[in-house]
Amino acid sequence: MNIQENISLKNHNTFGIDVKARFFVEITGLVQLQKVLELKAYPKKFIISGGSNMLLTKDIDALVVHIKLKGISIVEENENFVEVKAMAGENWHELVMWSLDQGFGGLENLSLIPGNVGTAPIQNIGAYGVELKDVFVSCAAMEVKTGELEGFDNEACEFGYRESIFKNKAKGKYIITSVVLKLTKKDHVLHTGYGSIENELKDKGIVHPTIRDISDAVIAIRRSKLPDPTEIGNSGSFFKNPVISRKAFDKFIKKNPNAPFYEVDDDQFKIPAGWLVEQCGFKGKRFGEAGVHEKQALVLVNYGGATGKEILDLSKKIQEDVQKTFKIKIQPEVNIIK
Ligand code: EPU
Repeated sequence: MNIQENISLKNHNTFGIDVKARFFVEITGLVQLQKVLELKAYPKKFIISGGSNMLLTKDIDALVVHIKLKGISIVEENENFVEVKAMAGENWHELVMWSLDQGFGGLENLSLIPGNVGTAPIQNIGAYGVELKDVFVSCAAMEVKTGELEGFDNEACEFGYRESIFKNKAKGKYIITSVVLKLTKKDHVLHTGYGSIENELKDKGIVHPTIRDISDAVIAIRRSKLPDPTEIGNSGSFFKNPVISRKAFDKFIKKNPNAPFYEVDDDQFKIPAGWLVEQCGFKGKRFGEAGVHEKQALVLVNYGGATGKEILDLSKKIQEDVQKTFKIKIQPEVNIIK
């Protein structure tokens, strides 16, 4: 086991924040992970995988455990469905591309989402009308305290909009080691309802899209709107879209008749936070090394040398302005490490 000291985490978080890990170890096997968890000499452990949904605001005074568990396999199949097991350290988008190469459907709308397989359930990743929970069967997770492996089925994960048990009750208690997804081998269920997908397909003259066409459309839309973390540091949507009650919505829409919204149910309405942030004048604005992306106001960016605190301060300013202007609280989607 190679435990290193004072390692920069700049290349381990998509925001590209340059903080240091006091200790750092890479994990490629389950037994090795168990052994690391047992190490009494390093009582504090901090788990990192793709680093795509975190904002690091200071050096990590702990043993940073980098999950690099690899492997994709078919665990069950019949004529119609296949269950695919992917280890936590696999890159999410590479798994999506692999599934398309096999002709398996279900992940195409989730193309090009940064991060690794193991973190996908934590925030129930979602895009263009599909969420992980729609294809999720189960995951295995190791309890940090005991090193024991436990299984969580779909229900046990308590999935919600960018939420799961791993962000709430079970926060910090488990390390997800693998995920099983149920995908279609034929009669794929296509989700083209999301406006921009329909437009993208129409522009290409595609009337009967394949799962690959949908993936290509999603990739094109994401590339046109969202910054590539390998070019400019970011963590995707920084905030969640706020959900407000009908009473609050009625007031809001009277004052802002042109605002976009989605009806969640009879009493709940979701307002795109990107619109709220844009209305407050932040879109494309730069504050030192931190900024708000010019094409999607929900995405905060690091122009190169931003500290986590600079990004955090900007996010707080945005929250305050949105609160003042619209009386709506927007909450970070990103896990802020203070
Ligand atoms: N909008 C603006 N200004 C902006 C951004 C958006 O007015 O700067 C408006 C758009 O015009 C549109 C609405 O807001 O009417 C929705 O925008 P978009 O379709 O871009 O989606 P979003 O609600 O801003 C969510 C997810 C994204 C996901 C897209 C597509 C959240 C927090 N974000 O964004 O997820 O890719 O839908 O499904 O739910 C992520 O989580 O990291 C992420 C990128």
